Amino acid sequence: MASNLHRNGAQRGSAKFDRPLKPRPRASSPSPGSGFRRPNSAVRNDAVPGRVRVAVRLRPRNAEEEMADADFGDCVELQPELKRLKLRRNNWDSDTFEFDEVLTQSASQKRVYEVVAKPVVESVLDGYNGTVMAYGQTGTGKTFTLGQLGEGDTSSRGIMVRSMEDILTDLSPDTDSVTVSYLQLYMETLQDLLNPANDNIPIVEDPRTGDVSLPGATLVDIRDQQSFLELLRIGEANRVAANTKMNTESSRSHAMLTVHIKRSVVESEDIVSTSQNGDVSHLIKPSKPLVRKSKLVVVDLAGSERVHKSGVH
Ligand SMILES: Nc1ncnc2c1ncn2[C@@H]1O[C@H](COP(=O)(O)OP(=O)(O)OP(=O)(O)O)[C@@H](O)[C@H]1O
Ligand SMILES: [Mg+2]
Repeated sequence: MASNLHRNGAQRGSAKFDRPLKPRPRASSPSPGSGFRRPNSAVRNDAVPGRVRVAVRLRPRNAEEEMADADFGDCVELQPELKRLKLRRNNWDSDTFEFDEVLTQSASQKRVYEVVAKPVVESVLDGYNGTVMAYGQTGTGKTFTLGQLGEGDTSSRGIMVRSMEDILTDLSPDTDSVTVSYLQLYMETLQDLLNPANDNIPIVEDPRTGDVSLPGATLVDIRDQQSFLELLRIGEANRVAANTKMNTESSRSHAMLTVHIKRSVVESEDIVSTSQNGDVSHLIKPSKPLVRKSKLVVVDLAGSERVHKSGVH
């Protein structure tokens, strides 16, 4: 079954939030969990604050699959309006799974961005931390969905490029800043994709604040979209080169793009005063400017295939 899913390009993207995203007005659930579940359970968890949302995207058949004219496509049935995916075991037996979003073969990169990543980017611009991850077997379209640069054809731009476009549009260049790091995790070791010689980056957690930092990772200031595209190109080239050297496939390492945003915000105080004749007046008093920090993490996870089952080495 897993290989049928792989061949049809089923790939999951998920988004994690530190705050709820406009929970739909449905039954609430007592327990948090992911958005990937079997249907017909009495409890839906749409209203659970901060839960992970999960979308599934099916990629179109590739040339090899078209040539083979295989009928494995019949094993997977999408029901986008019900947000369900059905996996047929045989003519009389199937498993059905329910997602937050079900994106068919014809879903555009724009639509995928809008339903999966845009709400996360908007939260990050509001000061929350957010993560978007792509999970799936090798060849199912994780890098296509996240990392496509779309230079020849802008409609194919992936989530990383579209996110940065929205971030740069929203920020004010005079008072705000965006910095980016791009790393890969392979066999518990973090390597800097912007400076591959730096291949043993420690992960440090501040015991007081819980903040996680990666001392030594290159942080690049991003002023415009062109410099970001250049950074992604360098990172991808280093990812391929590093994996060739280690004799691994790209699908064996996780790639993590972290976008750090610093915004200056002026918190204002609303002072309410009541005059002798009972009139209420409001006085908005600007207080000292604050710097609000947040980050967006986009993760292209290692291929999820089991080596011994899929024959992928
Ligand atoms: N939605 C799509 N539309 C058209 N082509 C796609 C789509 N998704 C993936 N592809 C194509 O399928 C191929 C495999 O996709 P991709 O490299 O993104 O897979 P992957 O999941 O990142 O694999 P790996 O784990 O090996 O890195 C690529 O040639 C890509 O261009
Ligand atoms: Mg990939």
